[in-house]
Amino acid sequence: MKPATEKYTPKKNWRLEDIDFGAIDSTLVRDDEQLFFLLTSASFVEIMADLYARNLVDHYQDNPDASAWLTDHWRQEEIQHGKSLRAYIRAAWPEFDWDSAYHGFAQQYGALCTAEELEPSRALEMAARCVVETGTSTLYRCLYDYANEPVLKQLLTQIKADEVRHFTHFHRLFQAYNAIEKNSAATVARTIWRRIREIGDDDGYVAFKHAFIGRHPDTPFNDADYVRFSKKINRWARRRYPYRMAVDMLLAPLPLAPFLKRLLRLPLTAVARATIF
Ligand SMILES: [Fe+2]
Ligand SMILES: [Fe+2]
Repeated sequence: MKPATEKYTPKKNWRLEDIDFGAIDSTLVRDDEQLFFLLTSASFVEIMADLYARNLVDHYQDNPDASAWLTDHWRQEEIQHGKSLRAYIRAAWPEFDWDSAYHGFAQQYGALCTAEELEPSRALEMAARCVVETGTSTLYRCLYDYANEPVLKQLLTQIKADEVRHFTHFHRLFQAYNAIEKNSAATVARTIWRRIREIGDDDGYVAFKHAFIGRHPDTPFNDADYVRFSKKINRWARRRYPYRMAVDMLLAPLPLAPFLKRLLRLPLTAVARATIF
């Protein structure tokens, strides 16, 4: 049986051409190496959406609405995130050879990103996608709060809004599939928890590694560089991470009564504050 879903309403208000990359005030960003690594890593992972989309479309090929949305909207928008971040990086750090660094990333990471990593159930994969979109929504929100360069701020405004809409649509698809599969709250929670623990595991490391090699071609990359970067990012994120927003988004797919979710919200936000970053 095909699950019924509401129609997706794409936001039509931005395209890559709408951002004036020539207006970037690079003096505000070019010495910020941490920002460079965050934006470059994000650009690599976003452009790779092409590959994730193919895996996901295969997984949902018997649902024309879901596969059309994944192909025509979600995939296009994620790739646009990657291309716009790439354009920003090229304008702000013109000495960085984005293409060579991405080539290294795509070769190493492409081998790790296979269809076998998808959840076996359609509903549970949608719950897992909600976790990924929670991660991107909250990351771009942090970056938006941190950024003080006007063009970057404008770009991040658009990207973070897209990510929240992606979450909303994956959540709708989850609800439609789970009305059929009837996974319990415990099963969904296990999937969500497993996916939270995987965030940044492979892609964060591989993206940083190739961004680092591109930025410091004369310095051999060492895992200790990534450990140092991660510690810095954790301190940076702890100060501005929207814990409450993340908890609300992660609670959304759980098939629990609304009053139970309201009860869980505060203690889970406290747990998130104590454990994430
Ligand atoms: Fe994205
Ligand atoms: Fe997204």
